[in-house]
Amino acid sequence: MAIPRSEYLSNVWRDGIFDGKVVFCTGGAGSICSAQVRALVHLGANACIIGRNVEKTKSMAVNIATARKGSKVIGIGGVDVRSFESMEKAVAQCVKELGGLDYCIAGAAGNFLAPIAGLSSNAFKTVLEIDTLGSFNTLKATLPHLLESAAKNPNTADSVSTGGRIIFVSATFHYTGMALQSHVAVAKAGIDALSGTTAIEYGPRGITSNIITPGPIAGTEGMSRLGNREAEAAGSAFKKVPLQRYGSVKEIADGTVYLFSDTGNFVNGAVLVVDGGDWRSPGGM
Ligand code: HXC
Repeated sequence: MAIPRSEYLSNVWRDGIFDGKVVFCTGGAGSICSAQVRALVHLGANACIIGRNVEKTKSMAVNIATARKGSKVIGIGGVDVRSFESMEKAVAQCVKELGGLDYCIAGAAGNFLAPIAGLSSNAFKTVLEIDTLGSFNTLKATLPHLLESAAKNPNTADSVSTGGRIIFVSATFHYTGMALQSHVAVAKAGIDALSGTTAIEYGPRGITSNIITPGPIAGTEGMSRLGNREAEAAGSAFKKVPLQRYGSVKEIADGTVYLFSDTGNFVNGAVLVVDGGDWRSPGGM
């Protein structure tokens, strides 16, 4: 069933701004990444989403394609971001079927709540491998195509429709520390370093590399895994957020459009925190 635009995209953006562009997204069947891709497809892009689960990934691709008549969205399941070979194959299929790759969203993540004492060494390593190594593999496999796109669509102050952009979907846990999230906080700190390094190494060739960090976003897998169930049952969980509400997936999709469209031409090596001010307010008011 087609999802109404108002659920994944603000009406400030003009249709067609991503015409002819291709976005590649890991974790694309998840609640946040699917909204990001849906928004880009609505505005003209074609897309390739990657996931571990074959059925879920394929059916999400079919669903995302309903965002725009005539769009092409492919879903490649059975891909694990921890395997570089598996990523390379998926990227090759994307380029073959969609004709190139202009934007990348590295969104695959692994998460669960666990105290340090309850976390095995393998559990810690697993999350680092999915989040940090997986982001590196995604970057490395897409980089040749991002560079090609950036060369074709150079980034100048007056550029229209530039290419060669990557967004890492991350978190803010490592800025303050976060109980039960040592594995994730360490993994995300690595993603900060990876994105910053990419911004410097490949900025001269027209690539922009940025991070989006979603805060508490309603209806997502992250919230169901990490939310404070007691506070939620009491209807007070959002009170810790300075804006006194949860965010929506649309607000993450809007940030994505900002960074990939011409509005983001001079934004490189940045972290766009979309969390209602949550991370600055660990204890609430
Ligand atoms: C302690 C746990 C655990 C838990 C798993 N492990 N769950 N340890 N508490 N709740 C341990 C296992 O016992 C094992 O260690 C090790 O982790 C690896 O587990 P596997 O199941 O073998 O790994 P794998 O099948 O690769 O699964 C990876 C996973 C799983 C991360 C553990 O949860 C997963 O696949 N998640 C994918 C989806 C996901 O997490 N999405 C979250 C997105 S939300 P031992 O020692 O026993 O071998 C998100 C929110 C961000 O990211 C926050 C934004 C604000």
